[in-house]
Amino acid sequence: MIPIIIAIDGYSSTGKSTLAKALAKILGYTYVDTGAMYRAVSLHALRSGYIKGEGIDVASLVSDLESIEISFVLGENSTSVVCLNAEEVESEIRGMEVSSCVSRISAIPQVRSFLVAQQQLMGVKKALVMDGRDIGSVVFPEAELKLFMTASEDIRAQRRYDELLAKGDEVDFESVKSNIIERDHRDTHREMAPLIQTKDALVLDNSCLSPQEQLDWVLEKVRLITSI
Ligand code: DC
Repeated sequence: MIPIIIAIDGYSSTGKSTLAKALAKILGYTYVDTGAMYRAVSLHALRSGYIKGEGIDVASLVSDLESIEISFVLGENSTSVVCLNAEEVESEIRGMEVSSCVSRISAIPQVRSFLVAQQQLMGVKKALVMDGRDIGSVVFPEAELKLFMTASEDIRAQRRYDELLAKGDEVDFESVKSNIIERDHRDTHREMAPLIQTKDALVLDNSCLSPQEQLDWVLEKVRLITSI
C-alpha cells in the first residue's frame, strides 16, 4: 500500500482527533494533533504572563518562539501526548484557561509560520494523519486525502462538556458551548489561514455517526486511493 497523507480539518470538538488516532493505529501511520501544538504555545504564553485579559504581548511571545520546543511522546495506552520543553502538558492544555486564549494565539502569523514549518517536516515520509484547521489548505495542500469534519453545535458542546467532566474539571454546559462557538468564529474569520473547506475535501458530518461508522467510511476512501 503506498503511504499517503491524510489531512483532517474541521470545527472544534467534531471528533477529529478520535478519528485521526484510530486511523493512524489501523494504518500504522504517525498521528499529529496540530491543535495540541497551538495549545502548547498558548500555555507557554499564559505561564510567561504574555496574556493579560483580552490583550496579548505579541512582541514578547514572538521573540520567545525559538525557545519553545514542542514534541510528542507516547503516553498511557500508547497514545501520543504533547510536551512543552520536555514537560508533559497534555492535561493542562485541554483546560478552559488554554481553550479561552488559543484561538487568539493561533491567529498570530509568526506563531502559525513557526508551527507550520515543523508540521511540514513531519510529512516528508508521508504515512501521516494530521488534524487541525489548515492542514488541507496550507500545511499539505497536496495531501492525497482531505476530510472536513462538522457536526451540530449542541452535539459538539455536549461531547466537549462530557470530556471535561470526565477529567474532573468543573465546567458548565453553556460556557463550554459559547467557547466552541467563539473559537469557530475566530478560526473561520482570522486573516491568516482561516478554517475553510477546500474544494477537494470530503465532508464528514458525524452528528449521527458512531466512531466505528466514521472509521469504516474513511478506510473505504483510503483503500480506493491507495489501490490505484
Ligand atoms: O483542535 P483544537 O481544538 O485542539 O485546536 C485548538 C485551537 O488551535 C483552535 O481553536 C484553532 C487552533 N488551531 C489552528 O488554528 N490551526 C490548526 N492547524 C490547529 C488548531
